[in-house]
Amino acid sequence: KPLTKQDITELRDHAIKASNQAYAPYSGIHVGAALLASDGNIYLGCNVENASYGLTICAERSAVSAAMQAISSKRDQMVRAIYIVNNKVPEIPPCGACRQVLFEFGKGGIVYFDGKKGMKKMLIDKILPQAFRL
Ligand code: THU
Repeated sequence: KPLTKQDITELRDHAIKASNQAYAPYSGIHVGAALLASDGNIYLGCNVENASYGLTICAERSAVSAAMQAISSKRDQMVRAIYIVNNKVPEIPPCGACRQVLFEFGKGGIVYFDGKKGMKKMLIDKILPQAFRL
């Protein structure tokens, strides 16, 4: 069943809380992600930077990892929805790496993020043209 406006607002509130836990001393961009999983629970993620910059983990993939430890069936449909927020840039669509990962676990799911003119949404099934698959 589709999410209500209230569900989406609640997801956003959780994402904001998660963004407060970001470790981002290098970029200053604190990203939070709240993932509504197929078990009905919300799993959180934040970006985790590193002095070796390229090792940085994005908030979205951090949330996917958090959910994976709890979900053992139909993992390709694990992500029902994920809301992404940050403290800086006016619009924060997920990066290419996160799209590839969400694609694998989010069949039928939706990505929400804050845009310059309010909330935006994307279908995970269409999030990455010609996504890589084996
Ligand atoms: N970042 C995310 O957490 N998610 C994205 O989809 C884009 C980028 C983080 C990584 C890094 O810590 C900071 O934002 C700046 O790139």
